[in-house]
Amino acid sequence: MAIAKEIRYRAYEDWSAEEIKTIQENVAKSPWHTTYHIEPQTGLLNDPNGFSYFNGKFQLFYQNWPFGAGHGLKSWVHTESDDLVHFRETGTILYPDNPHDSHGAYSGSAYEIDGKLFLFYTGNVRDDNWIRDPLQVGAFMDKEGHIEKFDQVLIQQPSDVTEHFRDPQIFDYQGQFFAIIGAQNLEKQGFIKLYKAVNNDIKNWVFVGNLDFGGTGSEYMIECPNLVFVDGRPVLLYSPQGLDKAELDYQNIYPNTYKICQAFDTEKAELIQPSEIHNLDFGFECYATQAFNAPDGRALCVSWIGLPDIDYPTDIFDYQGAMSLVKELTIKDGKLLQYPVQALKELRSEPEAFTDKKHTENTYELELKVEADSTAELLLFADEDGNGLSLTIDTKQGKVTLDRSKAGEQYALDYGNQRSCQIPQQKTSINIFVDKSIVEIFINKGEAVFTSRVFPKKGQNGIHLVSGQVEGNYFELTD
Ligand code: FRU
Repeated sequence: MAIAKEIRYRAYEDWSAEEIKTIQENVAKSPWHTTYHIEPQTGLLNDPNGFSYFNGKFQLFYQNWPFGAGHGLKSWVHTESDDLVHFRETGTILYPDNPHDSHGAYSGSAYEIDGKLFLFYTGNVRDDNWIRDPLQVGAFMDKEGHIEKFDQVLIQQPSDVTEHFRDPQIFDYQGQFFAIIGAQNLEKQGFIKLYKAVNNDIKNWVFVGNLDFGGTGSEYMIECPNLVFVDGRPVLLYSPQGLDKAELDYQNIYPNTYKICQAFDTEKAELIQPSEIHNLDFGFECYATQAFNAPDGRALCVSWIGLPDIDYPTDIFDYQGAMSLVKELTIKDGKLLQYPVQALKELRSEPEAFTDKKHTENTYELELKVEADSTAELLLFADEDGNGLSLTIDTKQGKVTLDRSKAGEQYALDYGNQRSCQIPQQKTSINIFVDKSIVEIFINKGEAVFTSRVFPKKGQNGIHLVSGQVEGNYFELTD
């Protein structure tokens, strides 16, 4: 929603209790609140930040502007979880309250260092002429959630980048801390910078090189780069803006992409034998996915179910955005798989054999199979007039299509209302997670994923098999 800059950059302390109460009351009126996905209390949620393990719990923060559905003065909101399914929000923890992050505590990552959680993030700073100085800054969060910001800037803007330089991800590779940062060069091409912590001192970073990952520079900016190791192989996840469609077919305003590589040469700042660029997700919204290697070695990730520069039907209720389920990344036959963590099964009630349902709570999982050489069309969020979100699984042609044109409130129509992807021509499994206004669809246990919002109208809560045959189970999900 277009909100005036003066409002978006108004200091947090200038919002009165009464104004905040009005916003909260408006948020409460929305019919689209999720039950087992993270949403903002108020305002806009965008990137996942600081996904990590600390103090015996998983830590997950999110970017937030709490005063409406717009991109304003950003802060980090903190949540924690024992099982990666139930997250407890403790509140806003990292405020834009310092000369080094005066115009927003932008995205970043986290890592436990000596009993404290190191938060490595971008301080968005602007001068009186609105010229931006992107600073990479740090803070410690202790076990009680107290924040202690570092006095010094950790990484200054280098001479070969524009004002677009942000989203540091810290990671440990063979006992050495590295960081990658998204950037735009002076020719307005996206690239990634690699840094190293001298003697593993997270207050002392040196530049290693521009990361060679086989990028073409067809994008004008790379946001939120993340390097994780899946079965020992480096996987680079990133959000390139303006990527040439000749390089990758995508329909969302900006794609979220990945490359699987064979090795990481830290001296040369090179990812060896990078794969082609792939879409991480085929749905209508998935962006800024953040991943990390958990202490048990699993590569875990979570995505923003939302996109920059798009208005959403919830905007009128002064909020926008949600977090995806936590997905585990694995590699099978050279392909990257993403699938919700095992613990999610705890939300399932007793299975019911799949059949049409006129009314549901729109909080369920479907686990279905479609035979080889067949086609099935399913309507989710279905009403009695034949409207709904259409999912077609065609195992004959090897194609899955998601059509949002008859599902709920229409928005982002400039980017089309159909999405599809190729699948192998064989018997296909489908797991669908519906949560009020979110749908996450996993084909063949994560070979292809469709993540989307759907804002159903009144009575759009049924499930209807339009054609073909599917078999499987329905599980009510309760948080
Ligand atoms: C991606 C992004 C990041 C930035 C943050 C600001 O959505 O633009 O690059 O750090 O959002 O909220």
